[in-house]
Amino acid sequence: MEHTISVTAQAERKVTDTKSVPFGKVPTEHMFMAEYKNGQWHHAQVVPFHDLTLSPLTLCLHYGQTVFEGMKAFSMEDGSINVFRMDKHYDRFNKSLHRMCMPPVPEKLFINAIKELVSLDADWVPKDADGSLYIRPFMIATEDRIGVKVSDEYLFMVVCSPAFQYYTKPLRVKIETTFVRSAAGGTGAAKCGGNYGGAFYPTSLAREAGYDQVLWTDSVHNEFIEESGTMNAMFVIDNVLITPELSGTILDGVTRDSLLAIAREKGINVEVRQISYNELIDAFEAGRQVEAFGAGTAAVVAPIATIAIGHKEYNCYTEPDALMFRLQKELYDIRRGIVPDTHGWNNII
Ligand SMILES: Cc1ncc(COP(=O)(O)O)c(C=O)c1O
Repeated sequence: MEHTISVTAQAERKVTDTKSVPFGKVPTEHMFMAEYKNGQWHHAQVVPFHDLTLSPLTLCLHYGQTVFEGMKAFSMEDGSINVFRMDKHYDRFNKSLHRMCMPPVPEKLFINAIKELVSLDADWVPKDADGSLYIRPFMIATEDRIGVKVSDEYLFMVVCSPAFQYYTKPLRVKIETTFVRSAAGGTGAAKCGGNYGGAFYPTSLAREAGYDQVLWTDSVHNEFIEESGTMNAMFVIDNVLITPELSGTILDGVTRDSLLAIAREKGINVEVRQISYNELIDAFEAGRQVEAFGAGTAAVVAPIATIAIGHKEYNCYTEPDALMFRLQKELYDIRRGIVPDTHGWNNII
């Protein structure tokens, strides 16, 4: 099937001075949309950003068939624009769709939609070293019918928004042992809306108690670390980078994967395995140096300053020479073309 994308451009909205706006609050001038009906994709188009009209019967409003991705475009040193690891985001998008019983998006449609949209709104890609254009592909079930069923119709869209630093200071997190985010056989590895909706309540309790985020633990023992908010959890104990394995209950993060590849390349010892909060307690109490951080597209590397385990708080190492910042710098430099991209991660458009 040909995926011709029609483009209706407008040039009414000026690029906002986006540094002061909260993450995800200001959309760029255009958006992409394509409709799935009768087993086929139709009307692939880039159009001026506008509101949607949906029937109150629309299935996604009731039964949660919604899937999204989050990726970024960067201004390179030479002025070109780089969309980072489009293929890995595409793979994950389709895996999430499969889990949610939604039809796949053809690769050409996904890639061309992003290329067309980002090229048209290129002026919105911040030039600053700490800025990027956040790209949000998503798909929703659009059949109008209130009965519980798999939708026969969908809308695939892409919207963008300029982004700067996500967290402004190191995080205080709490090990969560009451609520769980996901369980074996569930939807934890899919980027579907319900996973986030279900996380809000425990996270709001943690906020009330003075923490920024929770560190989820496994659903069986409530002991092994899973992930945090919209980030994978990573630790450095005595210079060994440790992160939980992809057991099916956490997201296969692109940032996690990139940082692991960079660390291995640099000869850093990497252990992808279960890590329990008891192991963290032992490390803290033995006076070992522990770094902890969240890895994700939005925040990149979010250093964790404090981990609360039960009623006790432990301090992590967040000095500028920490390994996490060295890994982060390498990732920044690859994405902006300052050091060579030996992995084929950059997509210059
Ligand atoms: C639950 C969850 N875990 C981890 C991540 C990190 O993934 P990535 O590095 O691909 O952004 C995200 C963000 O997408 C997320 O939502």
